[in-house]
Amino acid sequence: MLYGPFTQCLPMTGLPLHGSLTDDQLPVIDEAGILIKNGRVLEIGAYAELLEAFPEEQRISISDKRLVAFPAFVDCHTHICWGGTRVHDYAMRVAGKSYLEIAKAGGGIMDSVRSTREASEEELVSVILDHVQEHLKRGIGTIEVKSGYGLSVDAELTMLRAIKTANEQTPATLIPTFLGAHLKPSDFDGSAREYLEMLIRDVVPIIKEENLASRADIFVEEGAFSVEDADWYAKEMQELGFEMTMHVDQFTTGGAELAVSLGCVSADHLEQTQKVAALRFGNSDTVAVALPGASLGLGMQFTPGRTLLDNDACLAIATDWNPGSAPMGDLVTQASILGASEKLTIAETLAGITYRAGYALREDMGTIEKEKEAKIVVFEADDYRSIFYRQGQLRPHCTLIGSEYVIYE
Ligand code: NIG
Ligand code: FE
Repeated sequence: MLYGPFTQCLPMTGLPLHGSLTDDQLPVIDEAGILIKNGRVLEIGAYAELLEAFPEEQRISISDKRLVAFPAFVDCHTHICWGGTRVHDYAMRVAGKSYLEIAKAGGGIMDSVRSTREASEEELVSVILDHVQEHLKRGIGTIEVKSGYGLSVDAELTMLRAIKTANEQTPATLIPTFLGAHLKPSDFDGSAREYLEMLIRDVVPIIKEENLASRADIFVEEGAFSVEDADWYAKEMQELGFEMTMHVDQFTTGGAELAVSLGCVSADHLEQTQKVAALRFGNSDTVAVALPGASLGLGMQFTPGRTLLDNDACLAIATDWNPGSAPMGDLVTQASILGASEKLTIAETLAGITYRAGYALREDMGTIEKEKEAKIVVFEADDYRSIFYRQGQLRPHCTLIGSEYVIYE
């Protein structure tokens, strides 16, 4: 099937993984066509040339309007599996209580843990699918999803099983991450280290047996896990074959340098990261993941994206969609706002939600390329820059995944 013509198509190929990017580095194919066979991209190029080369091919014209095509976006950090709501946390926060104060008073993550434990696996599947549907409508085709609101053997496994089941029921790709180390739950009788030992002893073998996740995360923070405990846990988990990612430097520093030194696939948050630590990302394969949704949700400063890129980091941008710190869940809006605030070029912002986010997941995705699965988002526009200029208010016309495409009214 030959799709097109697209006024512009941005395949996001041939670009560097690290460092700053200018808009004129972006490959832009004008009047483009994309040939798709069995859900894979067979050819991508000038529409007129493809018409000539494949005269028999069925032509699919998505719309009469001018269209811009991008790789479907990648959200490499979310917590979209949860029970209950934290609307009261939000009200308390805007009335002046801090995130850590609310957590210490028994609200925060533990509140979501209580509600998530009460939800059945089916209910969690349905919550995930609702969130995934919202993401698909906004052009996101790949979504990382963390556990971490169960924090007991059974409840963590229920979350991971729900993510697996949801993945089988959606055209989006869900990538699970085990976040049993989100917090030591208030009902665990023992130290933080004993809790982490329990996860490794009692949860990890079942995760492996049921093939529920190959990535793991830990929240390194005052009130969560110390740098020393995270160091120990990450090494144990890496030994067991897990790729590690970490929540670091959100409120206090120290975690980012640990994540880089351990070769984590990504270090996420980084709102407090100072220049010395930012420098370390340049020579490492650890992706720096900015989560502007958490800055917006908590009314805090943004991750220093400009400094990170200027120091040659691979910078990805993700929503952190969760019921507490980041309830918005709108990737393009958040990436555009981060870009405006941190002075990121459109190319840098776009890279951060496509192939660089794919790299944070160690998945070769976020490009439109020959032989790869077709995952494409299409906007009615005549200039790719307008997607960011409109800061998320220009919604996709359709998303194409594999051999199917869904048009949004
Ligand atoms: O990434 N920082 C830790 N964890 C989540 C928040 C989870 C919550 O508030 O429920 C985050 O911001
Ligand atoms: Fe998070």
